[in-house]
Amino acid sequence: MEQTGTIHRLMSATDPVTMDKIVSLCKRRGFVFPSSEIYGGLGSSYDYGHYGVLLKNNIRAQWWRAMLQEREDIVALDSAIIQHPTTWRASGHLEGFTDPLVDCRTCKLRFRADKLEDGHCGRKPSKHPGETPDCDLTEARDFNLMFETTVGPVREEGATVYLRPETAQGIFLNFKNYMQFARKKPPFGIAQVGKSFRNEITTGNFIFRTREFEQMEMEFFVPPDQAAEWHQHWLAERMRWWTGLGLRPDHLRLRAHGADELSHYSSATSDVEYLFPIGWSELEGIANRGDFDLTQHAEFSGQKLEYVDTATGERYVPHVIEPAAGADRGMLAFLVDAYDEDEIEGERRTVLRLHPVLAPVKVAVLPLVRKDGQPELAREVYLELRDRVQADYDEGGAIGRRYRRQDEIGTPWAVTIDHQSLEDRTVTLRDRDTLKQVRIAIGNLADALEERLREPWRSPKLD
Ligand code: GAP
Repeated sequence: MEQTGTIHRLMSATDPVTMDKIVSLCKRRGFVFPSSEIYGGLGSSYDYGHYGVLLKNNIRAQWWRAMLQEREDIVALDSAIIQHPTTWRASGHLEGFTDPLVDCRTCKLRFRADKLEDGHCGRKPSKHPGETPDCDLTEARDFNLMFETTVGPVREEGATVYLRPETAQGIFLNFKNYMQFARKKPPFGIAQVGKSFRNEITTGNFIFRTREFEQMEMEFFVPPDQAAEWHQHWLAERMRWWTGLGLRPDHLRLRAHGADELSHYSSATSDVEYLFPIGWSELEGIANRGDFDLTQHAEFSGQKLEYVDTATGERYVPHVIEPAAGADRGMLAFLVDAYDEDEIEGERRTVLRLHPVLAPVKVAVLPLVRKDGQPELAREVYLELRDRVQADYDEGGAIGRRYRRQDEIGTPWAVTIDHQSLEDRTVTLRDRDTLKQVRIAIGNLADALEERLREPWRSPKLD
């Protein structure tokens, strides 16, 4: 059975979580695999394995909950990935969504002209591009980040379309539909979760920056004179969401963009930044987009995209506040924040101290031994629990090894069926973080777990 002795934490500020540790845990435990691995992999593409799917589902579900269930001023949308190509002329992406790139004629590699200090020249020993006498860089050219494809069987003029580089535009394209069907008056929002695509040049850093990724975006339409106030509201609200799901407040910060950093559509943007292993980096952008998008789409489509109050005749183009988060980047932040190592009476373990509502599996059901009727009773308990919460059943190997496996995927509770369980229908319930075990009647288990899931949670890494 589990040792419940003193727990020695092994990780500290001087022994930080590295990206390598996260990448290796993700592969070992089936969260994330490099994509197309049997063909040698495809740079910056990843596949989500079983526990990765469950974790990302939980992140999305919590986002939807905060947007839809806990409010009444936001509605949902799932728009197409391929939109009419004029969308991207109107939004400014065709012209402005570019990175300046230089090619090296010697090593044939391509680099971001504004980030040469992050690039690595193809020559050995590795230097930054332009630093060796052999480097022969071209002038910088603008390179559009949108992926192009063709609609229909013939590659003809006018058939070029783009994979969306942000989910936001699908929302603006549907503004008129929502004015008619949703009977909403600003302030109100439209929320969407889905894949976006960018032909990023500077990739790497695991799932932090990839060419296809998932966004969780909400466009909040407000009367123009309330835009600044709602911007502040969403800054506070989004920080509350990330910390409420367990991210340590001292690893999160808000950073306002300088004038030279603002996107073409934004009058003010603040990023929620997380202290990733690569340093402070953007987790979510919260922008004041003004009336840029609705005005542009009105001009290019010839449609009126405005709010009209039928009672008073008042009409205006709403301004937009946009919290735009990345689901994959969010998952990376939750994994980094949760990753921990400790030692219990000489035995080391890796543990993901995830908020229980995010944990891929809430409870593992484990017979102590694979005989004496224990597996049969354990299956009965598992079948009952899985009706209420995501549960795993595991009877293979030593009990300590099975606990370790669950610790590594962040399962907050483990139920162990032992010889006493067969006599009095009680089991032990073990806590991932404290390792405390309590004995509890099988009949009370599901209620007890659901009650624990509702309780406020704080990262043990803060203690
Ligand atoms: N509609 C506004 C917009 O798209 P953004 O700051 O470019 O704003 C929002 O993207 C969020 O999407 C980012 O904060 C990040 O979490 C995520 N994101 C953007 N590019 C990404 C990439 N290449 N890989 C992974 N996530 C990305």
